[in-house]
Amino acid sequence: MERRGLLKAVLLACLLVVCSGRAPMVTLQSSDTIYNSTLAKIMVEYASAIYTADLTQLFTWTCDRCGDLIKGFEMMDIIVDVENCLEAYVGFASDINAVVVVFRGTQENSIQNWIEDLLWKQLDLDYPGMPEARVHRGFYSAYHNTTLRDGVVGGISKTRKLNGDVPIMITGHSMGAAIASFCALDLVVNYGLDGVKLMTFGQPRIGNEAFASYFKVYLPHAIRVTNANDIVPHLPPYFTLFPQKTYHHFPREVWVHNVGLGSLIYTVEQICDDSGEDPACCRSVSGNSILDHITYLGVSMHAEAWSSCRIVMEYTELQHKMDLYGNVVLSKQPDLHSAQ
Ligand SMILES: *[C@@H]1O[C@H](CO)[C@@H](O)[C@H](O)[C@H]1NC(C)=O
Ligand SMILES: *[C@@H]1O[C@H](CO)[C@@H](O)[C@H](O)[C@H]1NC(C)=O
Repeated sequence: MERRGLLKAVLLACLLVVCSGRAPMVTLQSSDTIYNSTLAKIMVEYASAIYTADLTQLFTWTCDRCGDLIKGFEMMDIIVDVENCLEAYVGFASDINAVVVVFRGTQENSIQNWIEDLLWKQLDLDYPGMPEARVHRGFYSAYHNTTLRDGVVGGISKTRKLNGDVPIMITGHSMGAAIASFCALDLVVNYGLDGVKLMTFGQPRIGNEAFASYFKVYLPHAIRVTNANDIVPHLPPYFTLFPQKTYHHFPREVWVHNVGLGSLIYTVEQICDDSGEDPACCRSVSGNSILDHITYLGVSMHAEAWSSCRIVMEYTELQHKMDLYGNVVLSKQPDLHSAQ
């Protein structure tokens, strides 16, 4: 009897090991809680739409990139900081039942120049209230020291007033990803908001290792999608020899890349470790492609025209407020409608 019992136990143990080792569903479910691939395909379309040059099309959600998975979006505010050539929008996505906040990447004359500049970005600002945490002042200020912060916070509170305390999904591509990260952290740390989620695309490094570890505490489920050989996630450079002085990504990277040969090529979304700097993810390749920076998950992520920061819109059609510097908030002003 005893031997049979033992045999049964051994068999059961074997089965368990084999089953958990072979059953793809188990692995898929556990990684789904970290990274939701369906959600990524939606968020990348939001991050792409903000490159629409014509603000009227963006505001009325009739732009070329405003259809497909994101056609049910209801715009609340577009915030344009004319002085610093920055842009963000806020609204309600009924399909994923969330406030969506999107920041635009650089609109400067040349993406190449912008990327080259990333080589020289210094860790030149102490992040307030977080000892040892240092960040790049330019990215920090683009959110904290411009009209974006007030505009976005106002847009979120209006959208939540209309739709309840739904989650807040924050996204952006390239420089927009860096700004989105500072926004997400700000909403959690300084505004104490619940349900803040961050998913970015092609993000540069923004702070040092101490900053990254604070970030991980406040936004434990943040996702940074990186693409193949995109050069931007490799910048500013990571110097292994100077751990105190170097930039360090916050987790968690999801590296999208192709594997296989010939007709057997397929795309893998590799979920990386929680260090922020998984050497088996995009750091395992040279990462020298600009082309891989401007397409994410098959969606075009670049501006329609690399030009000066021009703003195209029909002023008469839209309610807007403009401040002394010419900064604009295009707004649905729900308060006015509900008062009528
Ligand atoms: C992934 O996101 C989609 C879209 O928001 C949602 O419908 C789905 O339930 C999510 N899946 C998981 C496993 O959370
Ligand atoms: C914010 O802007 C003001 C005025 O331009 C400047 O003096 C200050 O240093 C800026 N703050 C940061 C953190 O860059």
